[in-house]
Amino acid sequence: MRRPRRNRASAAIRDLAQETTLTTNDFIFPLFLLEGTNKKSEVESMPGIFRLSEDLILKEIEDCLKLGIKGFDVFPVVDEKYKDKMATKSHDPNFFYLKTLTKIKKEFPEALIITDVAMDPYSSDGHDGIVEDGKILNDETLDILGQMAIAQAETGIDMIGPSDMMDFRVGYLRNVLDEQGFTNTGIMSYTAKYASAFYGPFRDALDSAPKFGDKKTYQMNPANSDEAMVEAELDFNEGADILMVKPALAYLDIIQRLKSNFNIPIAAYNVSGEYAMIKAAGQKGWLDADRVMMESLLSIKRAGADIILTYFAKEAAEHLARQQSE
Ligand code: PBG
Repeated sequence: MRRPRRNRASAAIRDLAQETTLTTNDFIFPLFLLEGTNKKSEVESMPGIFRLSEDLILKEIEDCLKLGIKGFDVFPVVDEKYKDKMATKSHDPNFFYLKTLTKIKKEFPEALIITDVAMDPYSSDGHDGIVEDGKILNDETLDILGQMAIAQAETGIDMIGPSDMMDFRVGYLRNVLDEQGFTNTGIMSYTAKYASAFYGPFRDALDSAPKFGDKKTYQMNPANSDEAMVEAELDFNEGADILMVKPALAYLDIIQRLKSNFNIPIAAYNVSGEYAMIKAAGQKGWLDADRVMMESLLSIKRAGADIILTYFAKEAAEHLARQQSE
């Protein structure tokens, strides 16, 4: 007679029989960069998450490295006055985002710095591609993404994160990077990025919501799983180093499917809305936010994610450090 409860009978056997273990090595921390100095503003819909100016983001990275967090994905908060139809500022070497990236890499060469490749933070239309007559142009957008990727690679960053969902962009970006000698700059592709309502708080943070329409002609239909396999096959063949699924919690099946079919690291983006829900319920006293945070991150890893991009990175790292010292 098999009695599964025997393996749950004590803390010792539970620890020994545990299949999945979350560690700080699993996390990438997304950060929001503000122009200027000594500026800090909390994202209203993401309690505990701050947009930070260069001096403060450097301090934050230093603190996180001490906690054992090794990866950072930096997003720029771009003032409306800098936005235009062609996202010109995205590849202007004098723009504050690129200057700060150079500074970060100089100060923390050991940190893995990832950048965002997409037009939306810099686009007056709030879309990830060039808009013409209400349509998002694919191939014309690639040229801008290429210029953006080169400008970012020139700062010394380790990896680009194309989050735009244009067709062919991974292969296109791999090519232009290689042609310019950036053969060591990696690509973490937003492979299965769904047209999700869970991105709401992020768009508040960057003030980057689309000015018209939605992103359904380039981001994926939440109803589809086979389509994620098509995207993954393309990105794999086009040279992506890491395949990402986004969001994470409502898409654990997609994470699992990619993990069992592709032999490169799979990342999952535990997005802004997933963070906001847990924080809000925690603030109301409706659930234990700390435990729900750890349980959610663990389930993303159990589903197959090798890497988790999460706004909880710092808090979870602190939690894990506390656990270890107990
Ligand atoms: C845009 C981008 C988005 C996120 C990362 N890059 C939002 C969007 O596609 O509108 C969302 C991240 C999050 O919600 O935490 N290129």
